[in-house]
Amino acid sequence: MANNQPIGVFDSGVGGLSIWNEIHRLLPNETSIYLADSLNAPYGERNKQEITRLSVKNTELLLSKGAKIIVVACNTATTNAIDHLRAQYDVSFIGIEPATKPAAISTKTGKIGILATKGTLASELYLNTSSKYRGDVEIIQTVGTGLVQIIESGVPKDAKPLLKKYLAPMVEAGVDNIVLGCSHYPFLIDTIRTIIPEGINIIDSGEPVARQTERVLRSEKLLNEDTSLGFHHFYTNASIEILQRFVDKLDIAGPYETDWKDF
Ligand code: DGL
Repeated sequence: MANNQPIGVFDSGVGGLSIWNEIHRLLPNETSIYLADSLNAPYGERNKQEITRLSVKNTELLLSKGAKIIVVACNTATTNAIDHLRAQYDVSFIGIEPATKPAAISTKTGKIGILATKGTLASELYLNTSSKYRGDVEIIQTVGTGLVQIIESGVPKDAKPLLKKYLAPMVEAGVDNIVLGCSHYPFLIDTIRTIIPEGINIIDSGEPVARQTERVLRSEKLLNEDTSLGFHHFYTNASIEILQRFVDKLDIAGPYETDWKDF
């Protein structure tokens, strides 16, 4: 494995670009390959077996393109399939799961809200983590049905009515932390802020995932030593126009390309 090989990132669609962005901010000289499996979104409505099959397919493609590490930029895929991926492949996997622990530790009201997909909230990994904190804090969790589809359609602000419905019980219960447990949801932050009172914190896992990626690359001596800006390749198997719309919102320091691909 050479340290100038790319970081591979995948998600069920454009949502994982929120995670990609944090990685790029921290490691601008790394090259990367991003897969938006939008054709198969939403993963959150699928069962564990299907999510695992799709995660394997994405992993195989990233490995065939020389990925030195794989970031599963999807809570649903991480919580359902990362154990399988880790057992199956030699490369390191970085996952993302709802930030239950930081939200539970920092709450002052003793109440936290978690918004995530059905697949994430039903997963063993999430149930195990959340049950550790349930004795001390009240967790108001809600499935964000329909939100991923709205984001994938390219107009995140259309999610406002659904967000109002999903966040109202959390606000009424008196939460002071709301966890965005899906990598698509950071694209809704501006709309969410117009709905919830100012004092409520919104917590997502993008930055910790980026730091963990750096830590693992460093410990494996795989950080790119080339100081020039990295090249980035973004692939979608659905609408290139929508992928482009989201990529355009990112602050990309190096050269990049967006492409349609059958995968
Ligand atoms: N972005 C994904 C997540 O973090 C999955 C959304 C979906 O496809 O349902 O959970």
